[in-house]
Amino acid sequence: MLSGIGSWLPPRIVTNDELAQRHDTSDHWIRTRTGIVARHIVSPGMPTSHLAEQAGARALQSAGTRDIDAVLLATTTPDRLCPASAPKVAHALGLGGRPAFDLDAVCSGFLYALSTAASIIVSEAADRVLVIAAEAFSTLINPSDRSSAVVFGDGAGAVVLRAGTPDEPGAIGRSVLGSDGSLADLITVLAGGSEQPHATSPDGHDDNRYFSMRGRAVFHHAVNRMSEATRASLAHTGWAAEDVDRIVAHQANLRLLHSVAEQLNIAPERLVVHLDRVGNTAAASIPLALEHANRSGALVPGHRVVLTAFGGGATWGATTLIWPSLTCA
Ligand code: UT7
Repeated sequence: MLSGIGSWLPPRIVTNDELAQRHDTSDHWIRTRTGIVARHIVSPGMPTSHLAEQAGARALQSAGTRDIDAVLLATTTPDRLCPASAPKVAHALGLGGRPAFDLDAVCSGFLYALSTAASIIVSEAADRVLVIAAEAFSTLINPSDRSSAVVFGDGAGAVVLRAGTPDEPGAIGRSVLGSDGSLADLITVLAGGSEQPHATSPDGHDDNRYFSMRGRAVFHHAVNRMSEATRASLAHTGWAAEDVDRIVAHQANLRLLHSVAEQLNIAPERLVVHLDRVGNTAAASIPLALEHANRSGALVPGHRVVLTAFGGGATWGATTLIWPSLTCA
């Protein structure tokens, strides 16, 4: 059961015009190809755990409780390769001692974490779980890669899940999750792991420490996988496409969101769109969009909602819920 929601964005806003001063691009190209108008970017030295802590604190406030049994952090940009960032975030939130772990499914991370948290609750290992998705994605962007620089932004969203019954508003439906490792090269940060531990090659070349994406191919797979996962999720829940009041898809690109809605025969007015303000915030994009929609009234209690995402790995997923009444923190 979804019982609390919160989000946090770093204060610095970078507009398309500002990016056009640094890259060979334009506000027109970015708006028409992506739908993005601005994004928030961390200041130097602000780690992902800071964003996660801020969003987590707001979700706890929204839930009206600090009685939490476990903390999950979905992120592609942990503070360090080792250790995981979740224990640090749990400690900062006064939740030390509880199990806390990171989960990386890139842009599908929130849905993977939501499903994991729901399963932990169903197994009765926990009554309440704090699920945070946080990204300082700008720290991965190659300063010479204009196509990634214009797309990605930083931010964090968080929810509290609590034990409940499947027919209550806020109950998370059966999650449809998937992966295809044969597509691992579509979205990469090649260096810094065990395969290529050194970020800089002997000739001084360091591009491998940056994020790289084959945008067109990712676009194609993302539309197909998000549409398929959504169809499967709706079938599990017994909803037809016309029953869906809101579709909250990973905020990768406005054209992509419209293609998914079209494939599913869901009216584009039912799409929740948040990327214009924040860009693609990877794992954080769905909870950021949910929090904003809850606050703005685009999501109201009783709405039948489907969530779907696609990300590096490749990974994807979808799930449904009836939107509950949630306090804005
Ligand atoms: O988060 C995980 C899921 N991610 C996604 O689903 C991402 C999906 N993909 C996308 O959103 C898009 O592929 C991008 C926004 C990343 C790129 O847009 P695109 O329309 O696929 O562009 P492209 O990479 O195919 O490039 C088309 C043209 C190229 O020029 P030529 O070769 O046709 O002359 C690029 O050099 O656009 C050019 N281009 C740009 N021009 C101005 C690429 N980036 C830019 C830019 N400004 N920022």
